[in-house]
Amino acid sequence: MDLTEEILALKQARNAVILAHNYQMGEIQDLADYVGDSLGLAYHAKATTAEVIVFCGVHFMAETAKIINPGKIVVLPDADAGCSLEQSCPAADLEAYLKANAPKNYYVIAYINCSGAVKALCDVICTSGNAVKIVNQAPPERPILFVPDANLGAWVMAQTGRQMDLWQGSCYVHLEFTRDSINRIKAEYPQALVVAHPECTHAVRLLADEVCSTEKMIGFCRNAPVRDIIVVTESGMLHRLRKECPGKNLIAGPTERCACADCRYMKLNTLQKLRDCLANLAPRVEMEESLRVRAEAPLLRMLEQSR
Ligand code: 13P
Ligand code: SF4
Repeated sequence: MDLTEEILALKQARNAVILAHNYQMGEIQDLADYVGDSLGLAYHAKATTAEVIVFCGVHFMAETAKIINPGKIVVLPDADAGCSLEQSCPAADLEAYLKANAPKNYYVIAYINCSGAVKALCDVICTSGNAVKIVNQAPPERPILFVPDANLGAWVMAQTGRQMDLWQGSCYVHLEFTRDSINRIKAEYPQALVVAHPECTHAVRLLADEVCSTEKMIGFCRNAPVRDIIVVTESGMLHRLRKECPGKNLIAGPTERCACADCRYMKLNTLQKLRDCLANLAPRVEMEESLRVRAEAPLLRMLEQSR
């Protein structure tokens, strides 16, 4: 039996579902039951009837699945698959900031790329796919604190016209794209359109014809009236786009150092580790129940508000 067959057999034996983010390596995407962005993955995690959720993505995504599925076993292939955005906002720092600014009575909106402990301190969660919708539903009389991604926050402010105070976190992968690196590839493909993730810097977003979540990139590329499209996000996205948009020339946005950008956390997951986590039902995501309950409320509010 080869590795893929072994994984599929174990999946059946365990009554498991395999959910994979768009940044996972191609081999993992190809055998997943569902591949998508953070929002689609959260909805699928909520809807599944499987007993085990194998989350091929990073830790905060698997933790989100656990928060909304306390009765299920949630495993991820590599427990060290973290996220620089999550690291840029420790819960203790946010708690101290909110305490120091208590008179402001902030309405706190957290991008889903954060820990469960941060989610528990927030009013509502958003993803890049629904951030505009969520911010538009925030109570108009309260000041907003948006954590942890300052780039996504600035983009949402421009889209909604709503002022927000921004936590100064960032995604180290999307910071690697620069105005010069994108201008160079645009010069090589003068007819190309550019689609970029909102975690990119303002200077890079200004060069894009469309700024959107990874899932929305599929529709943009499919419907684009040109063949050449420069995709400014993590490299795994290209695998999904090439499958779903045949006939398009999908070009990875380069960084100053590389022809494309890899997220070192997303790429920790491998087929071998996926097989092992199904076989051992480990590493598991576990959460203390009172924390889980506090983190669940803003997540459920998000799922409700983004319908
Ligand atoms: P999406 O929600 O757009 O898939 O983005 C998640 C992410 O981690 C981007 O770096
Ligand atoms: Fe986090 Fe950036 Fe990796 Fe996404 S690409 S998981 S935001 S480090």
